[in-house]
Amino acid sequence: METWEKENGVKFLRRIGLRPGQTVLDFGCRVGHYTVPAAFVTGSKGIVYAVDKRQQALNELQQKLKADNLKNVKVMKTSGQTTLDFESESIDVVLFYDVLHYLEKHNRKKLYRQAWHVLKQDGLLSVYPKHILEDDPIQQFRTLKLSDVKQEIQNSNFLFEKKHCGLISHDDGLNKGCVLNFRKGERKK
Ligand SMILES: C[S@@+](CC[C@H](N)C(=O)[O-])C[C@H]1O[C@@H](n2cnc3c(N)ncnc32)[C@H](O)[C@@H]1O
Repeated sequence: METWEKENGVKFLRRIGLRPGQTVLDFGCRVGHYTVPAAFVTGSKGIVYAVDKRQQALNELQQKLKADNLKNVKVMKTSGQTTLDFESESIDVVLFYDVLHYLEKHNRKKLYRQAWHVLKQDGLLSVYPKHILEDDPIQQFRTLKLSDVKQEIQNSNFLFEKKHCGLISHDDGLNKGCVLNFRKGERKK
């Protein structure tokens, strides 16, 4: 995974649209398999907020950041509430990678609304909806199809942009997976 975080993970995040100097929020980052490549892409002028409710995972991430001398990551332990405590229109990219299945429908809706709020105009929301019906289904998420996840995000004022597939990180290995990119749309009247 170390190689993926420094090489193909970096290429993948560039492909989905991350750029140097951006502010990225990685919600549910765990040990940072996407945080670390995001930090490499955004560079010293960028910043990555790595948010998780599990201290142990964050400790592991901190160690990796130290080893790689990555100083542009702010690691944030949360209580597990579905709140994004950031200023409105302050973030370029929000990542919801392999995390939505932790949340009930009403909390997912709350999270999309907050992502909309914290993203800059034309900001990017990138979602990796693992554990849906078509991809290793799990618990209450198993009944949701990719098209359902796409629709619920579109219902929260996001415009679907593109699906990106590749050999990407899942847990501590690699698998074939697809992320969905959305742009912040206009607020509905
Ligand atoms: C399966 S891991 C995915 C990690 C990472 N995004 C990746 O794709 O490699 C999901 C992570 O989300 C975290 N998580 C789930 N619900 C959360 C919440 N409400 N607030 C913060 N973290 C949450 C879990 O603690 C876990 O570390």
